[in-house]
Amino acid sequence: MILQDIIWTIALSGIAVVALVFIYILLGTGKAADEAAQSKAARTARKLQGGLFVLLLLGFTFGTWATLHKFPIPKQDGALQADQVVDVTARMWSWTMRPASVAAGKTVEFRVTSADVNHGFALYAPDGHIVIQTQAMPEFTNRILYRFDAPGVYTVQCLEYCGIGHAPMKATFNVVAAKGE
Ligand code: CUA
Repeated sequence: MILQDIIWTIALSGIAVVALVFIYILLGTGKAADEAAQSKAARTARKLQGGLFVLLLLGFTFGTWATLHKFPIPKQDGALQADQVVDVTARMWSWTMRPASVAAGKTVEFRVTSADVNHGFALYAPDGHIVIQTQAMPEFTNRILYRFDAPGVYTVQCLEYCGIGHAPMKATFNVVAAKGE
């Protein structure tokens, strides 16, 4: 089961719960309620409200921590101590990458900038999956860290519309097996 299927299942279950609650309420309409039952229901509702608020707060806090504590973009000041550094410059409509290949299994710091307008630096694995992406901006260097697990020919594709040559603004990038392997 892929991640999207899991999320889809969770969403469907949530929708089903909401629908059941609606049906339950709908079935209860039209019945006269006495005074005591009404005030009891109000007390229960207040209690549930408080509980739900705490639950949502905990869920939100945990969700934020779980999804952001391994934020993939490193701090943009200071050296990153990567094993390899690749300088990437984008311009209308080509890529310059120095060096043009790295070794697999070791960290790579991509220093991405642009010589003219904004471009989008996206790196695709040989199987077509996107592995990393960041903005290529004029007069600014974005750094992104990555470790390639598998050697192969990776493809760079511009992901920010930058004029007539945007779509074919591609390049290839080689990841070679580390020496001694
Ligand atoms: Cu460069 Cu689109």
